[in-house]
Amino acid sequence: MTDVRNDATTEPSTSAATARQIEATERFAAHNYHPLPVVIAEGHGAWVTDVEGRRYLDCLAGYSALNFGHGHPRLVARAAEQLQRLTLTSRAFYNDRLGGFAEALCRLTGKDMMLPMNSGAEAVETAIKVSRRWGYMVKGVPPERATIITMQGNFHGRTTTIIGFSDDDVARHGYAPFTPGFRSVPYGDVAAVADAIDDADDTVVAVLFEPAQGEAGVVVPPDGFLRDLRALCTERGVLMVADEIQSGLGRTGRTFACDHEDVVPDVYVLGKALGGGIYPVSAIAADRDVLGVITPGSHGSTFGGNPLAAAIGTEVVALLEEGTFQARAREIGDLLDAGLSALVGKGLVAVRIRGAWAGVDIDPALMTGRQACEELMERGVLAKDTHGSTVRFAPPLVADDEDVALLVDAVRDMLAGARPA
Ligand SMILES: Cc1ncc(COP(=O)(O)O)c(C=O)c1O
Repeated sequence: MTDVRNDATTEPSTSAATARQIEATERFAAHNYHPLPVVIAEGHGAWVTDVEGRRYLDCLAGYSALNFGHGHPRLVARAAEQLQRLTLTSRAFYNDRLGGFAEALCRLTGKDMMLPMNSGAEAVETAIKVSRRWGYMVKGVPPERATIITMQGNFHGRTTTIIGFSDDDVARHGYAPFTPGFRSVPYGDVAAVADAIDDADDTVVAVLFEPAQGEAGVVVPPDGFLRDLRALCTERGVLMVADEIQSGLGRTGRTFACDHEDVVPDVYVLGKALGGGIYPVSAIAADRDVLGVITPGSHGSTFGGNPLAAAIGTEVVALLEEGTFQARAREIGDLLDAGLSALVGKGLVAVRIRGAWAGVDIDPALMTGRQACEELMERGVLAKDTHGSTVRFAPPLVADDEDVALLVDAVRDMLAGARPA
């Protein structure tokens, strides 16, 4: 067998236990990621511990799947209890957990119905299928002509259909041909959406968007965008489909990022934190006039809506209904804003904050985002770079003030030591 390694194995400062795990992973698992050279063995709250016993503040939080922190006691207890009782039935039968989860999620979203899946990409695919069906069955779009408007800079997952409307060449390269039926416009530009809908034969069924673009580097749309998009979609009879997989469920300081402009989309697309960082749970939620187009056999998933997922998802909703995580996200956001914005001009070029979610652009003359993440790791902070010199911070919403101060201090310290290349 060829000993194929990527540069993670050759990076310095790994000791034996770390090197062993990295080597096995790099040898036997495909190289679809380029992880930082840290091997995590335990996680509690906002902190993880590696195989060497070193502790790190987890400022990625599983791309916001860990909004409630590692091992939240109520989520773990709920999962453990369900693990002992019943884990999988398939949807060929009912189970005694899905109904309660569906009802709870409908209460949280204010929608009539939900459709459970597993990964985020599956939920996005579900929203695409539902939008197209709605277009044909309700709106009266001619067969095979349904069009969905998407936004530049989007990230909605990794299926061939979804990467087909991505503009990230790395994600697309080598995977063509792609699914037709998508039209891309600049993010946050309602006039461009209006132009794209202005279609003589009226084939546009939906606008699929992120209320703030996470993978793009926490890109927040201009004020009024969500409200104007809502008005436009209503006026033109087009579904407003909000991918809240990363922005939703407390991360931005509100239950949904759309709440920042008191906007209710036609379809919520949810994932990540819906599984409490324990298990993949995703769903879409919409009213009956939309989700009613789904009929037996027309869509499904072996694991979607299984009792373990439903038990965890029900507890996630219960946590969110208390409102404390949303409030804490706002407090964390204020601390991040005060700490990180002060570094603009001192090594940071820009800072974007939405609740406990920050995207910082580092002066590219100083370092790449990857180098910044390596430097932060040395200072006990785990984060993830994106697009060149941008780093995202999304600490678990259980992070305390000291944790946030540690994050800001680590960034300040890193920048203070940086010299232009
Ligand atoms: C906004 C958004 N949509 C969809 C996805 C895909 O989710 P998953 O990786 O669970 O398929 C992601 C993942 O980062 C995301 O951020």
